[in-house]
Amino acid sequence: MGDKTISQQLEEAVRFIQAAYSGKPAVGIVLGSGLGNLSKEIAVEKEIAYSDIPHFPVSTVEGHGGRLIFGTLSGKPVAVLSGRFHFYEGYGPAQVVFPIRVMKLLGVQTLFLSNAAGGMNAAFKVGDLMIINDHISFFTINPLLGKNDETLGPRFPDMSEPYDRSLIKQARAIASRLGIHVHEGVYAGVTGPTFETRAEYKFLHIAGGDAVGMSTVQEVIAARHMGMHVFAMSVITDLGIRDEENIITHEEVLQAAAAAEPKLTALFKELIAGF
Ligand code: HPA
Repeated sequence: MGDKTISQQLEEAVRFIQAAYSGKPAVGIVLGSGLGNLSKEIAVEKEIAYSDIPHFPVSTVEGHGGRLIFGTLSGKPVAVLSGRFHFYEGYGPAQVVFPIRVMKLLGVQTLFLSNAAGGMNAAFKVGDLMIINDHISFFTINPLLGKNDETLGPRFPDMSEPYDRSLIKQARAIASRLGIHVHEGVYAGVTGPTFETRAEYKFLHIAGGDAVGMSTVQEVIAARHMGMHVFAMSVITDLGIRDEENIITHEEVLQAAAAAEPKLTALFKELIAGF
């Protein structure tokens, strides 16, 4: 990353993007593992490969696209990060949140995120959707560690309500209108890449987590730092707390995510249509 400050890197990335695309998206979307299909619903105006954008990290995980897409969804101007960056890939926390900060500087006011997560709440089944109403950062590294850049946000950001209450309310109403069953709960953020041991799933559940996953928390922290509104949703792709054999694989996670995706896509589309 050289010796440029984050602000300088952001500025260069934003300048590059704005030279390629002059639209002003108000809504940003980050799609999780196996959940990239929403990007097919977008009336695309411009696609930029991450690898072309200065200082942008490049995605390495199977099932992640690696493109910044601009266009309209439900008639609203959106920017979509198709492919996200995880701490377990070896990126530093500032790299993980770099694209989120770019989104804000491009004009994005509201950020929608999806992820695949392991269910721990006994009421959850594989393929269920969970609206995230709070999170616990367990083993993730806070992306705001280090010198604070006051141009991005405050030194000590409030985190009492990272997930926008009004968007949650709207999402619940839409889900009920569309006949989509949704849970609401707490997302426990971990680094991965190991799935949890039985004892860890149990611990995370007792500690207040309803679902566990390896993304989202750092992005939400950076988004809130910059004052963006956030809505996030998990697709439950496996169940962490089971008495029987409990081997979880990446393939299982991707398959379950793909199967549940149409519900998530329908919900996101309707929610964004309201903007
Ligand atoms: N644990 C952590 N991350 C995950 C899981 C899980 O069970 N499923 C999907 N992402």
